[in-house]
Amino acid sequence: MEIIIQPGAGDASELAARIIQREVEGDPQSVLGLATGRTMEPVYARLAHWCRQGELDFSRCRTFNLDEYVGLPGRHENSYRYFMNERLFRHVNIDWKQTHLPDGVASDLEAECARYEQLIRKTGGVDLQLLGIGLSGHIGFNEPLSAFGSRTRVVALAPETLKQNAPLFAEPQQMPRQAITMGLGTILDSRRCVLLATGAAKAGIVAATVEGAVTGMVPASVLQWHPDCVIVLDEAAASGLRKTEYYQWMYKSEPKWDWLRQFAALREQPSRPVVPSQLRMEPAA
Ligand code: F6R
Repeated sequence: MEIIIQPGAGDASELAARIIQREVEGDPQSVLGLATGRTMEPVYARLAHWCRQGELDFSRCRTFNLDEYVGLPGRHENSYRYFMNERLFRHVNIDWKQTHLPDGVASDLEAECARYEQLIRKTGGVDLQLLGIGLSGHIGFNEPLSAFGSRTRVVALAPETLKQNAPLFAEPQQMPRQAITMGLGTILDSRRCVLLATGAAKAGIVAATVEGAVTGMVPASVLQWHPDCVIVLDEAAASGLRKTEYYQWMYKSEPKWDWLRQFAALREQPSRPVVPSQLRMEPAA
């Protein structure tokens, strides 16, 4: 696990977006695992912007989202299909047929979960998985006590998650109580993952995830087992961590992040626009 701490939420989301951009540049046929939620909105806004500028090409990418609410069709404005269409897919040159989410209104939900798992496997697995984190410690909708080996399945949402997301619904009491989510095992199978968390409200759960024990009570803590996982935070979300100096030191000393630090350094000089042509771009590792 690696930790990258940036001053503000905008800086952190830009870095997460840069990691995705780099992945797609390195392998235009990348299989991307995507997340929804408020934290992801600025990430997708940046990806859409770079795509419009011709700096990013999604035409050969395939995407798999982490989760979808049970009972919401894709046209419902609170469905995650709707979120993805509105926040990302309609703004980039992706082939919509290659964008996948679980179908929350499938007649046979168990069969739908099995189909989704198989499709991910058939596509060769997720190359880069983007993750947010819920106040309950969930990644995807894997709530506390989710099994570390769990696969895509129907889950009940925790009370904390209902409280977190119900305000996003026009009628909060109509928020579904269940969702389909990739499992923790599915997420652990991704080749690389990036978890982005911003804001002081996430400080406690981020600290438990990074510095606490690996436990089913904090599902995101299982990422300590992931072979290639980076956690990108703003200072507010990092404010509960005890070893921030160590994390900063490791990030600054790690040659594989040279390219990312160059972007961050350019951002600190507002007179110089951040354009990829200014950077020494080596193929993604
Ligand atoms: C949604 C998802 C969730 C969110 C998490 C954080 O696809 O995977 O785990 O990432 O609930 O949501 P926000 O960003 O709204 O705080």
